[in-house]
Amino acid sequence: MTMATIEVARYAGACYGVERALDMAYTAAKDASGPVNTLGPLIHNPLVVQDLAREGVSVVDDVEQADSGTVIVRTHGVVPSVVDRARERGLAVVDATCPYVKKVHHAARRLVSEGFQLVIVGEAGHPEVEGILGAAGGSALVVQEASELESVELSRRVGVVVQTTQTASALSRVVAAIAPRVSELHVVNTICEATSERQQAARELASSCDCMIVIGGKNSANTCRLAQICTEACRNTHHIEDSDEMLSSWLEGVEHIGVTAGASTPSSHIKRACERLQMLLDAR
Ligand code: F3S
Repeated sequence: MTMATIEVARYAGACYGVERALDMAYTAAKDASGPVNTLGPLIHNPLVVQDLAREGVSVVDDVEQADSGTVIVRTHGVVPSVVDRARERGLAVVDATCPYVKKVHHAARRLVSEGFQLVIVGEAGHPEVEGILGAAGGSALVVQEASELESVELSRRVGVVVQTTQTASALSRVVAAIAPRVSELHVVNTICEATSERQQAARELASSCDCMIVIGGKNSANTCRLAQICTEACRNTHHIEDSDEMLSSWLEGVEHIGVTAGASTPSSHIKRACERLQMLLDAR
């Protein structure tokens, strides 16, 4: 049998914001006095959430559920009033909001203070979008599709920001619908490339592989999307949360195995999966 090769996608696994948030959470677990809680699960990865729990970091849904100690704000960010409320309750706050999300907050605030009507391209109700809305003072239109603007009155000066995980084409469609209706349009492109880089790299790799392993939470939207993209290019694609889910039957007759992982998957999980793959290959 020819030797099979394992290749990890050029962009795979935890993005800058998630790595940073994980570092901050583990540091808080080590150094903070009193209980440490994250406001909502830190990332959509059950293994990581369990590991944090072992280190003493629990999850609360609301600041009111934490009576003392430290609360950690996750990468999505929160409405500023949540941080104010935590401080009022005497809690220490570790703000792990991704700096790229903070940039959206600043842009939204600036546009509102300069008198623009604010449009946020994003998913209504998503925690990141709620945080942007809050940072902008609560008055903005949230739209995902240009059609949602049809019955809406627009002012003469409109400013646009985008949820970091939206696509460039969603932004373009909304901007194209607004432009003819206003006299001034200020667009701040706040899309983060981490998602599209991972998708592009996964698509390229999957098209040259006869088995693809996608690692990440089953509850992680961006990992599920990666698995879908890989399946389109390689039917022998498997979405796993942990390396022990892998079966040797997936590797029968396989020569080139690709590995990718969602933006919420730590690099240690990729390493573990590659080691287990090598073990299964050695045993065939
Ligand atoms: Fe930040 Fe982009 Fe990740 S916004 S949390 S680096 S996907």
